[in-house]
Amino acid sequence: MARAVTPSDLTITPRDRRFGRGQAQHRWWMGGDPVGTAFYNALSATFPKGEAFFVESVRKFREGAPPKLEAEIKAFVTQEVMHSREHVQFNKRALESGFDLKPLEDRVEYRLSVTRSKPPIVSLAATMCLEHFTAILAHELLKDGRHLDSADLESANLWRWHAIEEIEHKGVAYDTWLHATRHWPPSKRWKVKAKVMLFVTRNFIVDRTRGTLELLRQDGISGPGAWFRMLWFAWIRPGMLRKVFGAWLSFFLPGFHPWKHDDRALIASAEKRLDTEAFA
Ligand SMILES: [Fe+2]
Ligand SMILES: [Fe+2]
Repeated sequence: MARAVTPSDLTITPRDRRFGRGQAQHRWWMGGDPVGTAFYNALSATFPKGEAFFVESVRKFREGAPPKLEAEIKAFVTQEVMHSREHVQFNKRALESGFDLKPLEDRVEYRLSVTRSKPPIVSLAATMCLEHFTAILAHELLKDGRHLDSADLESANLWRWHAIEEIEHKGVAYDTWLHATRHWPPSKRWKVKAKVMLFVTRNFIVDRTRGTLELLRQDGISGPGAWFRMLWFAWIRPGMLRKVFGAWLSFFLPGFHPWKHDDRALIASAEKRLDTEAFA
């Protein structure tokens, strides 16, 4: 069986779009639901610093990359920089609607400072794992319209736009990792990759849970009720985390590559919808 690779005819297209400028955001922009709003706001709080870290981690290994990968890294950087820009604005609107995201941002900063204190290959490995995470969340977000159907239009469009590009560049950090570790024995590669994935997954779940609970606390929702509603939303209905579990697990299979699952048709239909709604 041929080893899966990034499709040779894949194009990574940075789409310079802006969302919600000059608009007031409803405090519970997710259909009036504080839990859904807190879940996505907690995720958005991580993006500006997190994606800047992805860019910095991948860039360190750009030198000596084959020209195709080099061009993809460039497009990846442009896309991530624009995602950060739009999530800074989104987070500003969340702040204006009354949420304090600072404790969540501080947590991200702490995690990143720990990772940055290790050799650059660790940052690249963490980026590669988190990019798999964002790609499978993005896939689920676009695949099942129910995740964003109750969201206000500008917010839904921002998340859809981001999801499209996350899928499109899902192979870049992975290919950079394959290139950077090309002289490693396969067993070492797998061991490091698996260990880092388990570590970042644990941190991702713990930190996003804490972040969501903190935002719910700011809404006056706390105690067992907050836990129950948060867990229900994340794992049962709509159950984003449960739904991506299989795709998360596939990362550990021998011969895994993000493009083993070619979901470009999903991007194309999401983009069509985005364009229709933007110009409606
Ligand atoms: Fe992004
Ligand atoms: Fe990304």
